[in-house]
Amino acid sequence: MEKIKWGVIGTGRIARAFTAALAGTPAAELYAVGSRTTGKTVSFAEEYGFTKAYSSYDELFSDENVDVVYIATPMAAHYENCITALKNGRNVLCEKTVTLNAEQLRMLLALAKKKELFFMEAMWTKCRPAYLKMKEWISAGRIGDIRYIKADFSNLVPYNANDRLFRPDCGGGALLDVTVYPLTLAVDILGKPDEIISSAHINEDGIDLSDTFILRYKNGSFASVDGGFELPLKNNAVISGTEGSVILGDGFFMTNTAALYDKNANITENFEQPERINGYEYEIDEVHRCLRNGLKESPLVPHSGTLDVLDIMDHARKEWGMRFPQE
Ligand SMILES: NC(=O)c1ccc[n+]([C@@H]2O[C@H](COP(=O)([O-])OP(=O)(O)OC[C@H]3O[C@@H](n4cnc5c(N)ncnc54)[C@H](OP(=O)(O)O)[C@@H]3O)[C@@H](O)[C@H]2O)c1
Repeated sequence: MEKIKWGVIGTGRIARAFTAALAGTPAAELYAVGSRTTGKTVSFAEEYGFTKAYSSYDELFSDENVDVVYIATPMAAHYENCITALKNGRNVLCEKTVTLNAEQLRMLLALAKKKELFFMEAMWTKCRPAYLKMKEWISAGRIGDIRYIKADFSNLVPYNANDRLFRPDCGGGALLDVTVYPLTLAVDILGKPDEIISSAHINEDGIDLSDTFILRYKNGSFASVDGGFELPLKNNAVISGTEGSVILGDGFFMTNTAALYDKNANITENFEQPERINGYEYEIDEVHRCLRNGLKESPLVPHSGTLDVLDIMDHARKEWGMRFPQE
């Protein structure tokens, strides 16, 4: 079978981890890398063995040989990058959070549909075996009707004015960087909430350092979600139903473990699967599966779920009075 030719744009932290997974995936070809600066793109290409090194993103987007582009730039750049990639006929896997707001995503999805191209947010958590095992247990009715979810993603991140995490012009803040994960999990399991209660600690630059959400549903279920840069939390996820619970291990967004509990809180099943490479291989496999089967949308990371999360974020940011300079 022919290899899938990948183009990677942005040569920062996550591009390295993702490229390491590409390099360990026999079905993937490290075809092209694109950076804003010549020196970076050449050294990145040499380090990982890419065939082409482009000194602009646009050159990579216009290369007809690229089967799919992985966009690893800061959030605020995603919309422009994705638009240009799609206009040039490239399939796209774009890092989370995929856009600054739901309106931008709606435009991208409309363009992807018009151009009949594949588009997916790189929500790697949803492709990981422990996460999929949790969903399998839920679908099989092992924990009954889901009534409560508690999920966090909060680490202690030292303030650095130059880091994209703290820069409003880069789409910084905890919401788009970390809280996106527990919000995604809650929406994936319970759907779009009927009521959103939220609060955030916004710094003087206008970005959120910590935030907290209660998502309420008409059937009485609710989810409690926290995210931030100010506290080290355990970051596990508890999904509780009328017949039992599932706990995704600490760092639920990247865990290899899931545990199933009965309604008396006794463990009935443990799941563990070590990563083949570094965990990014699962989303790569999913993109390959979709491309080989002509799918324009991943069933594991459907567009509707990504959009629902952005709608929740928009709602919360409006209440917090938090806007990005691009908005
Ligand atoms: N899935 C995950 O586990 C995970 C983990 C971390 C981050 N992420 C996501 O990946 C994306 C990138 O995060 P990162 O931590 O890799 O960021 P980073 O280290 O700051 O790297 C971002 C890269 O984007 C390019 N870039 C384009 N415009 C830029 C601008 N205005 N300012 C700074 N860099 C710019 C730069 O590459 P060039 O100079 O080569 O053009 C830079 O190296 C974000 O969307 C983030 O949410 C995902």
